[in-house]
Amino acid sequence: MTFRTLDQAQLAAKRALVRVDFNVPVKDGEVADDARLRCALPTINALRRAGAKTILISHFGRPKGKPIASMSLRPVTAPLAKLLGAPVAFAEDCVGPTAKTAVDAMKPGEVLLLENLRFHPGEEANDPNFARALAANGDLYIDDAFSAAHRAHASTVGVARLLPAFAGEDMRRELQALRAALDHPAHPVLGIVGGSKVSTKLDMLHNLILKLDRLAIGGGMANTFLFSQGWPVGASICEKDMADAARDIMAFADKHNCELLLPVDVVVAERAAPGAKARVCALGRLDDGERILDAGPETLQRLIAAIDEAKTLIWNGPLGVFEVPPFDKATVAAARRAAERVKAGKLVAVAGGGDTDAALRAAGVAGDFTFVSTAGGAFLQWMEGKTLPGVAALDNQLERKGR
Ligand code: 3PG
Repeated sequence: MTFRTLDQAQLAAKRALVRVDFNVPVKDGEVADDARLRCALPTINALRRAGAKTILISHFGRPKGKPIASMSLRPVTAPLAKLLGAPVAFAEDCVGPTAKTAVDAMKPGEVLLLENLRFHPGEEANDPNFARALAANGDLYIDDAFSAAHRAHASTVGVARLLPAFAGEDMRRELQALRAALDHPAHPVLGIVGGSKVSTKLDMLHNLILKLDRLAIGGGMANTFLFSQGWPVGASICEKDMADAARDIMAFADKHNCELLLPVDVVVAERAAPGAKARVCALGRLDDGERILDAGPETLQRLIAAIDEAKTLIWNGPLGVFEVPPFDKATVAAARRAAERVKAGKLVAVAGGGDTDAALRAAGVAGDFTFVSTAGGAFLQWMEGKTLPGVAALDNQLERKGR
């Protein structure tokens, strides 16, 4: 699949309708994590430099088609303006006369943020009338929200069919990185999949096994695999009813020549609390009241050896309870080794989904990976091998004549 990028667009004085994902964590009315705002900066800056009028559209939360004051995008305006070093205007509706008046008042190079798309039921329903109302404020459409591309909504699919459509900078980088990691990777390819549940990752594990040479399983979900092999897991997170599914995955990996790396030792404690008394434990040696909270040193050494051998790494999910030291040790050490290999030009490393972005930032290496996605559900669906409607909508544009 191919898609058009910003360098192929006539931007000067054009009204560029840019789908961003400003669905950011907000605490007490303030943006608590601006990673997704930063992701949008390359596109916004390119548009400003080219003298386009940048009209930003996004969802925020799940207001279910009604205006809800606590889900307004207004709190995003000030931090975005600060990051840009330029004013960002705000309009209290994303369609209709309020949006039109604000757009009509724009000069080339200016930036406007429109209110939450999901205040209108037409957004999630991909209502053609709502898509037309959105498209009325743009000469071209730029999708820079990979993290919302798994939603077939008016702002991700509907508008892309009505205006000349382009991938924004962040979308372009993300698609290129994901393709390099999963579609035509340099081998050996290593996957690291952590997080708590096997049940939510069955499709992903099956798809990855078909593409990877090695797959390391960590986090709470590794406990389910250990349990399925007859190892005691004490009071650890474990989906005991998924034991058969875990055994099936192991057989599937075997059949497709994907080597599974499961923990061979673990770090345990009675609670996941800061400063909790932790100990390294061989498999089978933990007490009933103990919980597995991180991978052990031998497991980590094996993983580091696998990282050193890999040419491509795709990583989703932490290996332990990384938010609570000392249970961040394996995640941080593996992340740092991967970052060193990337810096040495030996590894392409792509990570994303769930807490992965936060875990790599906690390890201080997010900037050193080839690409770290801020996407949650969209990244997981990509790893499951699914076509994302928002990405497909960009591709279809090329088929249409006259664009
Ligand atoms: C996300 O945070 O993963 C995206 O913004 C999508 O949000 P949604 O799950 O509410 O569609």
